[in-house]
Amino acid sequence: MTEPGRQAVVRVEHLSKHFGAGSARVDALIDINMEVPSGQVVGLMGPSGSGKTTLLNCMACILEPSGGRLTLDGEAVYDDHWLKADLRRLRLDKIGFIFQYPNLLPFLDATDNVAVVLHLAGLGAAAAHKHAVELLDYLEVGHRKHAMPAQLSGGEAQRVAIARALANRPRIILADEPTAPLDSARARIVMDLLRRIAIDQSAAIIVVTHDEMILDRFDHIYRLRDGRLETDELSRAPAGVDH
Ligand SMILES: Nc1ncnc2c1ncn2[C@@H]1O[C@H](COP(=O)(O)OP(=O)(O)OP(=O)(O)O)[C@@H](O)[C@H]1O
Ligand SMILES: [Mg+2]
Repeated sequence: MTEPGRQAVVRVEHLSKHFGAGSARVDALIDINMEVPSGQVVGLMGPSGSGKTTLLNCMACILEPSGGRLTLDGEAVYDDHWLKADLRRLRLDKIGFIFQYPNLLPFLDATDNVAVVLHLAGLGAAAAHKHAVELLDYLEVGHRKHAMPAQLSGGEAQRVAIARALANRPRIILADEPTAPLDSARARIVMDLLRRIAIDQSAAIIVVTHDEMILDRFDHIYRLRDGRLETDELSRAPAGVDH
């Protein structure tokens, strides 16, 4: 839970989501409540089909909830219906999304994969390119800036994908199993980077994971089961980060 004076960057209240109707109805999310303050990296765990991706997609405004409230970076965005007309703009301004597999555009090199997002956000080509290289350096993958996606290792590709998700300095970063294709050493590097980003950018980061090896990297762990949060009280001491 958010400490007094510390702003919740993501606030979810009584959120529900069902798919289908009648006998085909699936209640994927039931009365979800959670708050993630800035600077925190929280884990979202639960068995397959428990609703993790559905919750992330609702928070990302990719999927319309069925009810409840969603507040992002202090702005109410959903209250039984969308409150914002331009959800694409909202996503571009506030949210970085990291997928399980990096989803890089195969015909663009590492730099252009990042620059394209900056371009979409309105930056000129030269400025977008320069900032993309800075982001790749920040993620310690700058030496691969000219590589095509097929030439990158899994860990390198994931770091390029993270650079792309960070391009607009989002306050909210949502990651769906970002470490799944990585070995445990690489997974820890990615998690430590996410923590640094949370602190440097005052961002709230939510990471879906099955990976028991990285649990010590989270400030809180939320567990979903059959669409319900089992607990939102299981807090952990902030992970020690050396930097
Ligand atoms: N578009 C959809 N239409 C119908 N049912 C859906 C849809 N998307 C998800 N579901 C159902 O909602 C429930 C939650 O799915 P979700 O993908 O959120 O699970 P998950 O926790 O991410 O699972 P996994 O760990 O396998 O990725 C499941 O029962 C799933 O079958
Ligand atoms: Mg999923």
